[in-house]
Amino acid sequence: MQKDLLTVEEVTRQDLDNIFKLATKMKLERLDYPVRHLAGKSIGMIFSKSSTRTRVSFEVGIRELDGFPIFLDQNDLQLGRGETIKDTALVLSRYLHAVVIRTHEHEELVEFAKFAHIPVINALTNMFHPCQIITDLFTIFEYSERLDGIKLCYMGDCANNTANSLILAARLAGIELILSSPEKYKPRTSYLDPDSMGAGKIVWEPDPMKAAENADYIYTDVWVSMGYEKEEKERNRELRPYQVNPKIVSAASPSVKIMHCLPARRGEEITDDVIDSHKSIVFDQAENRLHVQKAILALLLDEETLK
Ligand code: CP
Repeated sequence: MQKDLLTVEEVTRQDLDNIFKLATKMKLERLDYPVRHLAGKSIGMIFSKSSTRTRVSFEVGIRELDGFPIFLDQNDLQLGRGETIKDTALVLSRYLHAVVIRTHEHEELVEFAKFAHIPVINALTNMFHPCQIITDLFTIFEYSERLDGIKLCYMGDCANNTANSLILAARLAGIELILSSPEKYKPRTSYLDPDSMGAGKIVWEPDPMKAAENADYIYTDVWVSMGYEKEEKERNRELRPYQVNPKIVSAASPSVKIMHCLPARRGEEITDDVIDSHKSIVFDQAENRLHVQKAILALLLDEETLK
């Protein structure tokens, strides 16, 4: 793998295979897994946004690999009082072995990684959420034993960090991705350019029933991402036709699986009867964050991992 994991764009098919193999072993063996990949290593976790899954799964995962996580709220650091990202990255590189960052602007993360001498892992920015989406690919692979040719329908805000990362993942993994939203929330134009699709097929379809037709997976996310709270009323109104409910699910393949990166706003982007149904794999997705991130940490930080 490259030094940093900032977007899915840095990940190759070989990286994905390595992550899947290791995550499968780590999941099967959990606490009996024999290799302490992070022994003696301290991993900083700088978070400037709320988190349940990402924070806890990284902290637990680092401990299970014998590393030492140090959680740092951005406001506890001098960063919150104006110290530059460059100086912070240079200083933390002298203490830590890697840093996991959740922040607002993606450019802040890129700036940190540019000056850091240690691996930097994106734990979510306004633009991308690679750890979530690599985990989602792993979860699909667990259920379907393949990624190539899988038909995945994403409903809702098609310009948020989850949708952006899914598009990059579809390109990498050869997934047919149908994104469905009103015009206002469609993916950025460059993502729909046939020349940029790599192995995938990426389509925007404003009709939610058409988008869901024969889908193997239906994926949704909250309509109001962190930082967009002021738009809550209009987003809830405009995205309502894209709610994942029994009618939408009935258009999909009979074996469709339902995905959501969580946290969910039940009754808004997804109904209770869908998220709690036997078709839902959302809690497998959440659990897999732990196993996949452990594999990513091992591959980034322990040169012996693949030997
Ligand atoms: N899916 C996800 O990133 O969840 P958290 O915001 O709780 O970390």
